[in-house]
This record gives sequence, C-alpha cells and structure tokens, in this order.
Amino acid sequence: DAAPAVLPSLLMCDFGDLKTEVQRLEAAGTRVLHLDVMDGHFVPNLTYGMPIIEGLRKHTDMPLDVHLMISDPLKYAKPMVDAGADLLTFHVEAVEDAQSVAQQIRDLGVAVGVALNPGTPMEKLDGCLDAVDMALVMSVEAGFGGQSFNPIALERLRTLRASHPDLLLEIDGGINEQTIGQAAAAGCDLFVVGSAIFGKQDYAAAIGSLDQAISA
Ligand code: DX5
Ligand code: ZN
Repeated sequence: DAAPAVLPSLLMCDFGDLKTEVQRLEAAGTRVLHLDVMDGHFVPNLTYGMPIIEGLRKHTDMPLDVHLMISDPLKYAKPMVDAGADLLTFHVEAVEDAQSVAQQIRDLGVAVGVALNPGTPMEKLDGCLDAVDMALVMSVEAGFGGQSFNPIALERLRTLRASHPDLLLEIDGGINEQTIGQAAAAGCDLFVVGSAIFGKQDYAAAIGSLDQAISA
C-alpha cells in the first residue's frame, strides 16, 4: 500500500545471521525490505546478488525492494525476479534508454523504479516517469552507507510530487530522525534507512522514532 513506510536497507546489517536480522526487522514493524545490489563497476563498492535475495526470500513474505547499483540492469533483471525481487529499481545513469529498460523490467511481472543520483540532472528522467511505478531520489551518491544527506533531494521530491501526484517516491541516503520529516513534507512515500537503524541496538525503537518523525 502507499502509506509512508520506513524501509531498512540491508547493507550494514549482520550478513552472518540474515535470518535473525529479518526476524528482528519484522518484529520491529518493517513491511518492506530494501536490498542494495552493487557491482563494483557502476559503483566502487561490491555487495551481493541473487543468492542472498533468494536466501532472504525463504525467510520472509515481505516485499523485496531491490536497488540495482549495477552497470547492466537488464542482464540481471530476470535472475533477480526469479530470486524473489518484487520491485526492481535501476539507475538512470546506467542505461541509454530508461523508458525501454523500465518497460522490459515491467514485462517480467514486477514493479519498476528508476533511481537518480544527486549529481545527475533531473532532465535525465524525462520520458521515463510514465513507464515506472516509483522514482528513487538519491540523497547521497549511490555506493556507500553512512554518508550525509544532500538536501537537493528535497527540492527534487517536491518537483516530482507536483508533476506526478500518483508516482511512488522513495528517498535513500542519510535518512535519520532529523531528515526523514523533511522528506515526508516534500512528498516522499518510502524512506530507505541504513545506519539510523543498524547503528542502533533496538530496531523497534529506532523504527518507532523514525515513524514518529514522519508524521510529526
Ligand atoms: C547507498 C545505499 C543506501 C544506504 C543507505 O548507496 O543505496 O541504501 O544503505 O544507508 P544510510 O541510511 O546509512 O545512508
Ligand atoms: Zn539503496
């Protein structure tokens, strides 16, 4: 559903015990998981791919929001869907024809999102927004957790919310109790959070105060 939601980003979590991490997040009220797939090429960092998504799929019924920070999203879209992804987001910087990529992903039977880094002009999204379910406005350059929030994202959310009232808007990077309220006020629906959850012992408390800051 379209109610505002905090999406924990599985990047700084305990990969040695993913099953417990997922259970703790579920118990803390999480409804959607955000999975950061990096290829060491589109971004300098390298994380994980299909086997981890498949493994997570066995432990939860939560929708899996897969953020593809990879150079060739179409090459891996079908394997990602087969592994259990429910929503696939590709970066507009990685492709030639975003509209066509979005359509090809949608044809696989999943929801599709398009992501834009803070340094990329908004015009890059022209023509593809009507072909996607979600726009992911990055508030840090994709690649690493724990970076600080770039407020350019707020302006972008407001612009997108005004031009596309029904488009799902997601923000990712540097979201914490201070920044999440600003993003909500700018029209954002989905808030990806890494360090402000996984840096805390008590996930339920962390998510609870983020939820509160959304509605404040
Ligand atoms: C960054 C990733 C994010 C990251 C967010 O490239 O896409 O999902 O994990 O982490 P924080 O909340 O720490 O900025
Ligand atoms: Zn992400």
